[in-house]
Amino acid sequence: MNLLSIRNLTVYFYLHCKDRVVKALDGVDFDAEKGKITALIGGSGSGKSVLSRSVLGLIDKPGMIKSGEIRFNGVDLRTLQEKELLKIRGRNIAMIFQEPINAMNPVVKVKRHFYEVLGRCAKMGSKKEMRNLCIQTLSRMSIRNAEEVFEKYPFELSGGMCQRVMIAMGLLAIPELLIADEPTSALDLTTQAVILKELNKVRDEGVSIILITHDLGVVAHMADDLYVIKDGRIVEHGSVFNVFKKPEHEYTKQLLQSV
Ligand SMILES: Nc1ncnc2c1ncn2[C@@H]1O[C@H](COP(=O)(O)OP(=O)(O)OP(=O)(O)O)[C@@H](O)[C@H]1O
Ligand SMILES: [Mg+2]
Repeated sequence: MNLLSIRNLTVYFYLHCKDRVVKALDGVDFDAEKGKITALIGGSGSGKSVLSRSVLGLIDKPGMIKSGEIRFNGVDLRTLQEKELLKIRGRNIAMIFQEPINAMNPVVKVKRHFYEVLGRCAKMGSKKEMRNLCIQTLSRMSIRNAEEVFEKYPFELSGGMCQRVMIAMGLLAIPELLIADEPTSALDLTTQAVILKELNKVRDEGVSIILITHDLGVVAHMADDLYVIKDGRIVEHGSVFNVFKKPEHEYTKQLLQSV
């Protein structure tokens, strides 16, 4: 069953001069099945981040969703009020942004961000229980000084640390769907392996994942289904096994040949 089902999604960006329109997404269909990892690959500027941000209604001016349906558990998220969408964000759908530093308020401590997530998903225990859960989740991301990091401001963290904090924050709520946009791009290989293992683990626990990555090795190892996007259009999709074995589209063949 599809947890997320996107139909005919079209997103435009209107640049300074009104006559310059970037068609970031052009009639995209995309499904993410329950309990699976669905990978999205494509070149830089192909529309991967725009697709992921659209799901949570995070397209701002000069961008605009022109048309399409984004059904989550059967409900079209585009028809929801901002208030209802906020409830789903963080509790049912968590997002790891490509630039995590921009996704957290740099002058609000990590712990405040975490407590807010827990508050939103009504997972409030005693202060001590909440703190323990947060520290534990941070430690799972291979953060050794988790207690220190918990007390810091995002601007005090390195890019890689920020990325791991963001992933921990995403997993805190045990969402139904986790959208991870290049979640390990700023990490060294060892840390990357730890994080990917954790993502695999949460998938086994029932969290569905949309994984945006440039790394076809990661796709081969982890993902169940695969979508290939080029210039705002899905050019190929199927099970990872089938697409890797017999790519149909010229662009997919090129991608596969380049590794
Ligand atoms: N805020 C914006 N203003 C104008 N154009 C934008 C904006 N955000 C995205 N775009 C355009 O939309 C298109 C898709 O961008 P997107 O960020 O989704 O690419 P991407 O596939 O995530 O690339 P990358 O692999 O580099 O992260 C690009 O042409 C980009 O220039
Ligand atoms: Mg991107």
